[in-house]
Amino acid sequence: MPPETTTVATDPNWLATLTWVWLALALPIAACLCFVNAPYGRHNPGTWRRMIRARTAWLIMESPAVLLPAGAFVWARGWESPVLGGFLAIWLLHYVHRAWIYPFRLAKTSSPMPVLLMLMGLLFNLINGSLHGTWLFVHPGVIGTDWLGDWRFATGAVVFGIGFVINLDSCNRLLRLRREKPGEYSVPCGGMFRWVSCPNYLGEITEWIGWALLTWSPAGLAFAAWTMANLVPRARAHHRWYHAQFPDYPAKRKALLPGLF
Ligand SMILES: NC(=O)c1ccc[n+]([C@@H]2O[C@H](COP(=O)([O-])OP(=O)(O)OC[C@H]3O[C@@H](n4cnc5c(N)ncnc54)[C@H](OP(=O)(O)O)[C@@H]3O)[C@@H](O)[C@H]2O)c1
Repeated sequence: MPPETTTVATDPNWLATLTWVWLALALPIAACLCFVNAPYGRHNPGTWRRMIRARTAWLIMESPAVLLPAGAFVWARGWESPVLGGFLAIWLLHYVHRAWIYPFRLAKTSSPMPVLLMLMGLLFNLINGSLHGTWLFVHPGVIGTDWLGDWRFATGAVVFGIGFVINLDSCNRLLRLRREKPGEYSVPCGGMFRWVSCPNYLGEITEWIGWALLTWSPAGLAFAAWTMANLVPRARAHHRWYHAQFPDYPAKRKALLPGLF
C-alpha cells in the first residue's frame, strides 16, 4: 500500500455498481417507512409471534458492524496507514458502544423485538459492514496522511463528534427513563429533548453525515442515506405518538430538527 498517495483508483466496477444500487434502495425503503412503522418498541402492534429480548437482538444484529470492518482492516494491514487507523478508530467509537455496550445498558424491561426485524437488522449490518470494510480498507480511496489535513476530514470529524455526543446523551436520558418507569413511557426532558422529540435520531443522522464527509466514500454516503431513510420517518412517527399519548406534550418541540421539522 503506497503510504503517501492520497487517491488510488483500485475500486472495481462491481463494487461501485453494488454500492450505488444499495444507496438507491434507501429511497423506496424511506417511502415504505412513511406508511409502515418498523414494528419494534412503541410501534410494535403486538401481533408478531416470535419475539426476542431487546438486549440479545441488539447484540446479534449489531455485532457484524464491529467485526466485518475490523476484520477487513486487519486483513488489509490497515495499521500501515494512519488515515485508515483513524477511520477504524472513529467507526469503532460508535459501534463498540452500539453493539457491545448499549445492549447491556438496555433495561431488562425494554420492549422485546420481533425476530424477523432482528434478522433484517442483521442483514443490513452484514451488507453495510462489508461495504465499509471493502471501500475503506481493501480498496481504499484515501490513505495518504495529507488526508488528515483536508477540510473534508476535519469538517466531517467535527460533525461526527457533535452527532456522537448528541446521540449518546439522548440515549442515556431515554435509558434512564426506561429504568425509572419499567413498562411505561414518559415525556423525555433535558438536553436536546428541549427542542426535538428524537435527538438520539438527530445525533445518529449527524454522525453518519459527518462520516460520509470524513471518509469521502460511497459506502459512507450510502450509510448516511440509509440512516435518514430509517430514522426520519421513525422520528415523525415517535413525535405523533407523543402528541397522541400526552395532551400536554410541549407544543414547540419539533420531531427531529429544532424549529423546523
Ligand atoms: N443507523 C440506523 O439506521 C439506526 C436505526 C435504528 C436505530 N438506530 C439507533 O439505535 C438507537 C436505539 O434506537 P431505537 O429506535 O430503539 O430508539 P428509541 O425508540 O428511542 O428507544 C431507545 C430506548 O429508550 C426507551 N425509550 C424511548 N423513549 C422512551 C420514553 N419516552 N419513555 C421511556 N423509555 C423510552 C426504549 O424503550 P422501549 O424499547 O420499551 O420502547 C428503548 O429502550 C438510537 O440511538 C438510534 O439512533 C440507528
